[in-house]
Amino acid sequence: MEKRQRWSSRTIFVFAAIGSAAGLGNAWRFPYQAASNGGGAFLIPYFIALITAGIPLLILEFAIGHKFQAGAPTAMSKIKKGWEWLGWWPILISFIIVTYYSVIMAWVFDYLWYSLTTAWGNAPQDFFLNKVLHISSGPGELGGFSLPVIIGLIIAWIAIYWTIRDGTKSVGKVVKWTVPLPLAMLGILVIRGITLEGAVEGLNFYLDPDFSKLLDPKVWVAAYGQIFFSLSLAFGVMIAYASYLPKKSDITNNAIITALSNCGISFLSGFAVFSTIGYMAVQKGAPVAEVAGSGGVGLAFWVYPEAINLLPFGNALFALVFFIMLLTLGIDSAFSLVEGVVAGLSDKYSWNKKKTTKLVIGIGFIVSLLYATKGGLYWLDIVDRYINNFNVVTVALLEALLIGWGFKSKKLREYVNPISEVKLGPWFDILLKVISPLMLAIILVWNVIQEII
Ligand code: PHE
Repeated sequence: MEKRQRWSSRTIFVFAAIGSAAGLGNAWRFPYQAASNGGGAFLIPYFIALITAGIPLLILEFAIGHKFQAGAPTAMSKIKKGWEWLGWWPILISFIIVTYYSVIMAWVFDYLWYSLTTAWGNAPQDFFLNKVLHISSGPGELGGFSLPVIIGLIIAWIAIYWTIRDGTKSVGKVVKWTVPLPLAMLGILVIRGITLEGAVEGLNFYLDPDFSKLLDPKVWVAAYGQIFFSLSLAFGVMIAYASYLPKKSDITNNAIITALSNCGISFLSGFAVFSTIGYMAVQKGAPVAEVAGSGGVGLAFWVYPEAINLLPFGNALFALVFFIMLLTLGIDSAFSLVEGVVAGLSDKYSWNKKKTTKLVIGIGFIVSLLYATKGGLYWLDIVDRYINNFNVVTVALLEALLIGWGFKSKKLREYVNPISEVKLGPWFDILLKVISPLMLAIILVWNVIQEII
């Protein structure tokens, strides 16, 4: 048996956890989700999701990783015989996600290069789809590879390997940069954004609450989904990270700090993105909703560059700041996904961690090539939708049930309280055993019904 690695300090652990949580999900997915699900009113279900599922499950994942000193599969099997699969399921999800997350990172690497000359010129959308992706006509037509994406992908996987090659030690060195740096850049983009003409219109669109949307269950589904994706919950990642904590570690406090910092970063990102979009709408004389609504993942790669084009000065500089921010936000999320998989495999089979890392990265790279084909964008969209809609919520629901009822939430509290500053009272049992599972079950059933009709 290899000796278990340890984080070198509490700060490094919290940085690594925030690094995993704060990623592309914050900088683009959150603002967009908020805007299309009731604007300011989205913050209500989002906050409820944070309290009723996000924080309790984060405490739970930190606690079981810490207690069992193992990745998700081993930890689950120690909680209840025969439940090891509940640990493998999120690991499979993580693996699938990193195969396309790495592709988005590949685009980011490409765009760092393009930023130097704002190579997208006057037609950022055409540039992204045709010059970068060389997009084909549909998912059925893979049509060979796109060279820029392949190059970006090789760099992205090397970067992932390079950061986790020495486990907690090398990750610790990297997160010291990849957590504060994007925050500083976000600060620059927020200040630049809100001082632009039209910023208020954009922010109104982002924050103006449409309370009628609260009656739409879709909005609640989106809020819970966003919380899980954003906190890296139910992916086996946080369990693995907590398993490298030393025995005397504050669980509850660390979980609360991680969750609140992550959501704060999301909220701030909204200011950067929507103030800029407001400016763009004013420049183009188009409604904000129309500009913001023009499309998912690609938004970061064409709407934002287009907005940057319109800036009165410093285009290339702001483009660079934006893409370095995306890079530093995303890279630690990407390697945390790999780390979750590696921890699961090496703990279960007592494999050498370094070799396991190489194996996972090698296979991950090969699979990710699918999305570097000319039909890759379609596949990315399909896989993302199917993976996130049901799987993550189901895993979270089962986790809450297994630990709340099987392991007993009281036992969890008795484990966590002596080592934590914030004490969990009996209310936590109600939260974990009843409220979280109930909310998740409602969402799951609603999702299934929607899929059927
Ligand atoms: N939380 C990351 C983000 O917001 C994505 C992620 C999901 C990372 C699951 C690890 C596990 O981008």
